[in-house]
Amino acid sequence: MIVLRELAPAKVNLYLHVTGRRADGYHLLDSLTGFTEFGDKLEVVPADSLTLTLEGTYASSLSAQDNSVLKAAELLREYGKMSPGAAITLHKRVPVAAGVGGGSADAAAALRLLKRFWSVNIPQGDLEVMALILGADVPACLHCSPLYMQGIGERIEQGPSLTGMHIVLANPGRPLKTPEVFAAYKGPFSTPARHPAAFATPAACAEFLGKARNDLEAPAIKLMPEIAVVRDALSSQKDCLLARMSGSGATCFGLFASATAAQAAASALTAQQGTWWIQATALR
Ligand code: C5P
Repeated sequence: MIVLRELAPAKVNLYLHVTGRRADGYHLLDSLTGFTEFGDKLEVVPADSLTLTLEGTYASSLSAQDNSVLKAAELLREYGKMSPGAAITLHKRVPVAAGVGGGSADAAAALRLLKRFWSVNIPQGDLEVMALILGADVPACLHCSPLYMQGIGERIEQGPSLTGMHIVLANPGRPLKTPEVFAAYKGPFSTPARHPAAFATPAACAEFLGKARNDLEAPAIKLMPEIAVVRDALSSQKDCLLARMSGSGATCFGLFASATAAQAAASALTAQQGTWWIQATALR
């Protein structure tokens, strides 16, 4: 039996500036976005109808009916004017409503996977339009390689290589809803960061990031003060180059120059904090 697999890498906003607000309420952003080797996993096998099975640590947090993977599948079927089947399994390893892509990464992975599985002849531009219908972050997740993101998420430019950079993701184990964080953001609006084309070392990357910020961090901390505790705990780990919240939170990341340093920090944090979600990984 044919089985196709696709990773849905977690998304990390290394910085995120809110640069404006559109008339429809969506915010304009400027972000350097990276993707990790850790993520949800999708698998598909032939079937008569379209079904989704949820497995993994965070499966019970989601609905198999109202799911971004099925929405992506249905858009692709409509585009192809066809209704082939597929039995999809989503291994949910990344916490939901956590500021690291989650449903957006799953939707993007479903588009990549089913395009191959059903051999849909769709130009990349049309796939990106479809991705934006599924969510502001989905076009970025479709690329899943380092990028500078602007607009509400649809303006994408290739970013500097982030290979060799290691991170620890940590969150307090509670979801935080993206619309609530954006609604709590009261400005002022930031200017876009100046975009370097490359970083010589992880330390150079951290130095650049130190001059930028995540504008959503303060409103998210107001809604969930524990985020500051997570960020500061990451920051105080040995060899941590920089710690910051990703996206609309609550997940924070610590940046490290080696896998050994990231693993040691994740182990130390896990020993201190039994209820947090903690994951060491690398940027890709
Ligand atoms: O598009 P997505 O479903 O990911 O966005 C969820 C919500 O987050 C939107 O309805 C909006 O309230 C907020 N948002 C925003 N500006 C963005 C992205 C999301 O205000 N660029």
